[in-house]
Amino acid sequence: MRNGMLVSAQIGCGAFAESQDFPNFAKNPKTMIKYCCDVSRERASHMAEKFGIEKVTSDFMEALKDPEVDMIKVCTSHEAHLPIIEAAAAAGKHIFCEKPMAMEEKEAFQIIRAVRRGGVKLCVDLNRRMAPSLHALRAKYLEHKKNPQHQPWRFIEKPRVPFKEETLTHFLINIQDESSSYRLVHLDPLHGGGVIIGESVHWLDLACWFFAPQVPVRIQAWGSSRLSHGINLTFSEGDTATIIFSCCGTFDYPKEIYEVTSNAALFRNKFFVENEYFGIPGANREVFPLQHDPFPETAPEGGFNSYMEKYKKLVQDAENSKKVYNKFSVNKGHENMLDSFVDAILNDKPSPCDEIAGHVSTYLAKQAIKSIELSQSLPVLYEYIRPAIQV
Ligand SMILES: NC(=O)c1ccc[n+]([C@@H]2O[C@H](COP(=O)([O-])OP(=O)(O)OC[C@H]3O[C@@H](n4cnc5c(N)ncnc54)[C@H](O)[C@@H]3O)[C@@H](O)[C@H]2O)c1
Repeated sequence: MRNGMLVSAQIGCGAFAESQDFPNFAKNPKTMIKYCCDVSRERASHMAEKFGIEKVTSDFMEALKDPEVDMIKVCTSHEAHLPIIEAAAAAGKHIFCEKPMAMEEKEAFQIIRAVRRGGVKLCVDLNRRMAPSLHALRAKYLEHKKNPQHQPWRFIEKPRVPFKEETLTHFLINIQDESSSYRLVHLDPLHGGGVIIGESVHWLDLACWFFAPQVPVRIQAWGSSRLSHGINLTFSEGDTATIIFSCCGTFDYPKEIYEVTSNAALFRNKFFVENEYFGIPGANREVFPLQHDPFPETAPEGGFNSYMEKYKKLVQDAENSKKVYNKFSVNKGHENMLDSFVDAILNDKPSPCDEIAGHVSTYLAKQAIKSIELSQSLPVLYEYIRPAIQV
């Protein structure tokens, strides 16, 4: 600790660290980064200079040996997580780790054991569960589930007892991405592990968070285990989440749209900037501010169309003057995840996305890949969702 602030070490100073970690840590008044660590010392020095960080190292053990360091942020490539986390936990440092926490279940179990042995907290940056717009969507859905309010015209038909299927909720997660941006390392089974391991852990986790306290009980996946794919997850009360991930899309359109249908209502989240609600009398759309908006004057009303106008301006500016704004982003929950984890450490609260959540998303991703390989649906075993780990 220093002056009441948690002292952190950034391990892995690549693209994501530059765009999210350094700015988000700088914004949080209760933590600070003391070390920039990267196997590329040049990269670590560059980031230290850019963000005013006092120490540079290419050996993460140097930061772990420093008694002033309370927490590390792990932002390396995936396969490096386990040794770093094991060493950090043994040194009594709290761990904020990028997704995926692990590449496979055994690795995840080793991480869970290390963290519990060390008596430290771990948070996995499965950030969608902390996005303000998705919190608002879930709150509206739960409110409707508890106290359904329907459009009056719906009752023109003669009421009947609904079938079981009519009482269920479906969560559709629609992802479209342009895979030309993926570096080969992301698709390499030994490093990135492909898109299900590297990316769909986000949506598997989101679905688990959305339907908690239900747990997933069955999974079916199809398509490619490393690129475009679909995954269907069934939860313990019969609700379902379906992830459709196309890598054949375009950067000209936002990557994510979420739709929940339940009890004669539709709840739609349009790329974290707008929620629409249909089928509920008087429910108005909600708009959510961007995380970084270099064009506050353009379409200041907010929402999806406003986002598209700002994005158009971004592209036009880049084309015309080659000016690149690296600070243009919607609020996907990264800042909230960091703030909430810092609060959890300082006030001894549960981690906002702990090692079990990190493990479950990896387990589900691996089951999805197995389902593709076997071309069949598979059970999700409760003993894997709530594993017994001997510390
Ligand atoms: N939560 C999200 O939405 C989100 C978005 C993008 C990336 N990420 C995650 O962030 C992580 C990094 O992604 P990136 O795009 O910044 O990759 P990157 O390749 O740009 O950066 C990774 C950095 O880690 C360094 N590194 C590798 N092994 C190391 C080690 N043992 N010690 C110190 N440094 C080491 C590399 O030299 C590199 O600079 C990945 O796990 C990725 O999944 C998360």
